[in-house]
Amino acid sequence: MSITVQGWLDHAAAAFQAASAWRQLAAESSPRQEALWLLGACLQKDLAWLYTWSDRELPESDVARADAWLSRRCAGEPLAYLTGRRDFWSLSLQVTPATLIPRPDSECLVSAALTLLPETGDVLDLGTGSGAIALALACERPRASVTAVDRCPQALAVAAANGERLRLPVCWLAGDWFAPVAGRRFDLVVSNPPYLAAGDPHLPGLAWEPLTALVAGDDGLDDFRRIVAAAPGHLRAGGWLLVEHGAAQAADVAALLQARGFTAIRHWQDWGGQDRVTGGCWQRDNDAD
Ligand SMILES: C[S@@+](CC[C@H](N)C(=O)[O-])C[C@H]1O[C@@H](n2cnc3c(N)ncnc32)[C@H](O)[C@@H]1O
Repeated sequence: MSITVQGWLDHAAAAFQAASAWRQLAAESSPRQEALWLLGACLQKDLAWLYTWSDRELPESDVARADAWLSRRCAGEPLAYLTGRRDFWSLSLQVTPATLIPRPDSECLVSAALTLLPETGDVLDLGTGSGAIALALACERPRASVTAVDRCPQALAVAAANGERLRLPVCWLAGDWFAPVAGRRFDLVVSNPPYLAAGDPHLPGLAWEPLTALVAGDDGLDDFRRIVAAAPGHLRAGGWLLVEHGAAQAADVAALLQARGFTAIRHWQDWGGQDRVTGGCWQRDNDAD
């Protein structure tokens, strides 16, 4: 049976309205908006095209694909996993269910890092996922040396493929936090590690993303503890450690940095004005191994 663009949008909006899984996960969106995003992504057309050609009949193959995506989206699967793409900074990145979907919040970490990274500095991104932060830094600092670590080999393969496609040179290493860079020191270490507590109420809404990218022990601070403890052994004197964290964790992260001996501790805010990145400078002369 043939269906027009408008007809499919009406059918999809009704499906979203009825889908409880989608309503729980996408509360800030509307069924009509979601239908437009989905069909636009599926047909690779913008909103202007969808409005202009609303009475155009869709080919059967497009309807079949859009219907398949609609079922998955109604079940709550993120649009980025359907398209396999997410824009971050100035880059279009491949994402898969092995990688966290990069968030606009993490652009705050990139902005802060760029204020501290020397033109020809060495930077390490811990827990790189799709490679979002490492690749944004490599793009903005073509003369810097960028290394990125993740312990998930599937995520690292996605990151490496992104680097190759974008022709951005990053050294990708698999392993547990600093283990793959034993004996190396950097001017800047950045990380967006897992930082949700095991019982965090946001977790049901993140069920499609890898749990190992999200949860860090009972209080959400386990990975900060490990990274802050080991970072001085991998920073040059005057180097910085910068981490992204939850909006309520700034004071806890600052306390960890202070207890470890970091100085000049400060916070950076996200677009909503919340403290979401905290960093400190390692002033001491490499005495921390
Ligand atoms: C919150 S995600 C961040 C991904 C990416 N940096 C971003 O901002 O989109 C955390 C990442 O840390 C990785 N990770 C978790 N524990 C790790 C560990 N012990 N060592 C290395 N990577 C780890 C996960 O696989 C995941 O890719």
